[in-house]
Amino acid sequence: MHIPVMLNKVIDYMNPHDTGRYLDATTGEGGHARAILEASVPGGFVVCSDADDTMLSRAKDNLDAFKARIRFLQANYRDIEDIVQETGGEKFDGIIVDLGFNTAQIQDSVRGFSFSSEGPLDMRYDRSKGITAYEVVNKFAQERLAKIIKEYGEERQYRKIAKAIVAARKKSHLKNTAELASVISGTVHGRYGIHPATKTFQAIRIFVNDELENLKAFLQKAGDFLNVGGVLIVISFHSLEDRIVKQTFRQFALLAKPVFKILTRKPAVPDAEELRNNPRARSARLRAIKRIA
Ligand SMILES: C[S@@+](CC[C@H](N)C(=O)[O-])C[C@H]1O[C@@H](n2cnc3c(N)ncnc32)[C@H](O)[C@@H]1O
Repeated sequence: MHIPVMLNKVIDYMNPHDTGRYLDATTGEGGHARAILEASVPGGFVVCSDADDTMLSRAKDNLDAFKARIRFLQANYRDIEDIVQETGGEKFDGIIVDLGFNTAQIQDSVRGFSFSSEGPLDMRYDRSKGITAYEVVNKFAQERLAKIIKEYGEERQYRKIAKAIVAARKKSHLKNTAELASVISGTVHGRYGIHPATKTFQAIRIFVNDELENLKAFLQKAGDFLNVGGVLIVISFHSLEDRIVKQTFRQFALLAKPVFKILTRKPAVPDAEELRNNPRARSARLRAIKRIA
């Protein structure tokens, strides 16, 4: 089961109340949604959305006891205006996005997120649309591949890796995650015990799901759907995402008549105990803003 990150901090910043209306736009297995529902008994309402219908099914099971106070919806959070429209048109008192992938997705080899088990080269959160990792790996020109690995993976050996992928696929298309991982580990060495394919897999996943553009589009709009006093929380897992959140929140704060107040001058991070219990939390950064006008 996915362990939700910085649960107490999410509740401290959001401060849910029993007449509030909340949006968990990356519901996953429902860990954060559950905490918001528990903190807002008896009347708080939570819209639980996720791009991945498999995750929503799991969340429905996990949150069955609260179902009278939840509306589930499959949606990309970048389309927040559609989420609002579909769920009655009202604004929220709290919105959270907890970015990236869920443990259940990476553990399910069929999804193709993991380099440590063999699965199809897919990597899409929403399997009903978009291009797959297979197309990126087997069809993109070497320069384009190299650019993706460099920009979204921050991988210094991007040229070598792109060249090796193109050479390998000339012999036969790369069919699965294990083949891709093996081409990469046959070409470069990982540093500090990190698997050499880590950054390339991250890069392809970010590209396939358009993760950074989703985040930018969402951040520009999300505050419009907060009530005054409402809080927006973003939990990110790598510097590319955190930079976007930090810069966007700073721009908001610089407006002549600010509409938002930054609640986290520095990003909140997990404490030592959380890191002991959940190593995945080590790169998590939480930033929050409050609507003040
Ligand atoms: C880190 S998990 C969320 C975990 C969740 N907070 C919990 O407690 O179980 C991230 C989730 O975001 C979803 N996701 C990723 N990109 C998305 C997007 N653009 N729109 C909606 N959901 C997205 C993934 O499918 C995944 O379920």
